[in-house]
Amino acid sequence: MGRGRARVAASILDADFGNLYRVIRQLEKAGVDRLHLDVMDGHFVPNLTFGPDIVAAIRRLTKLPLDVHLMIAEPSRYVDRFIKAGSDSITFHIEAPESEELKLETLGKVREARLDPGLAVSPSTPVEALKPYIKLLDVILIMTVEPGFGGQKFMKEMAPKIAEAAKLFKPRPHGWEVHVDGGVSRETAEICGEFGVDILVVGSALFQRGRDMTREINLVRLLADEGWRREIGHGEPPIPRDEWRVVAQLPREEAEQLSRRIEQEGIPALVMRSGPLVQGVEPERIVMVPATAEVYTRTALKLGFAPEDDL
Ligand code: DX5
Ligand code: ZN
Repeated sequence: MGRGRARVAASILDADFGNLYRVIRQLEKAGVDRLHLDVMDGHFVPNLTFGPDIVAAIRRLTKLPLDVHLMIAEPSRYVDRFIKAGSDSITFHIEAPESEELKLETLGKVREARLDPGLAVSPSTPVEALKPYIKLLDVILIMTVEPGFGGQKFMKEMAPKIAEAAKLFKPRPHGWEVHVDGGVSRETAEICGEFGVDILVVGSALFQRGRDMTREINLVRLLADEGWRREIGHGEPPIPRDEWRVVAQLPREEAEQLSRRIEQEGIPALVMRSGPLVQGVEPERIVMVPATAEVYTRTALKLGFAPEDDL
């Protein structure tokens, strides 16, 4: 897994479906962070791919997180099957011809199953349309091609929607991600990073003859982080995703109390022993939060900014 901020989800649409086992081993070896599975029903988009049984089969083949991207007309009808199939996140389109009420219910089901619910926006839909749903979303997926087919050209004018999506999430300190999907490659990763993307979905660029998959994935992550550093980070390197930071060291009771207060803010907290038991005496506990939420946590809980050890 990369050390930086951006993460790559591989779309297998352009892979050899005759040998999914080999494809997945290859993607794992190349260091992809997640898999992005495109489900199409021939109604919502003019193309057909696969359904929940294939998702379940892929689940059995890998431990990588599975992002299921439903390009189907009736997400409410099939969501239970995709939950059972072992998805980690389920994202469907806001353009799906179902009522707002039904969409909210579908997102709620995904949340109840403790998976990440998401909505995708096609190029002609403004990000603003997501407003009524934002509280129920962990994922916003920005389409940079018309949904339906792999291998299309990245629509550059859609990139600012990534920042708009992040802004919509912003009041929430943790637990959301903006994905970008369609035509992402070494040529377009940087602009996605400039607008603050979290997850880059990469399909056909990974499956080109003569190209090294590992290098392609590393390049996409690197260039996205490069763009982030220049436009958002004011020259500072991004805070690595998936890293935890110590925000306090306290006696056990107090540490547990603090962790509960942190979690009330919507931030996950870990409590661990600061060292081994010495002559039966319990050591103090360290309290940790995701690095990306450190500043917020320290500010919100008035913990101060004393430098602590990184993990
Ligand atoms: C398009 C799909 C994408 C696509 C990605 O409808 O949602 O996931 O397959 O493939 P590339 O990277 O080739 O655009
Ligand atoms: Zn997709």
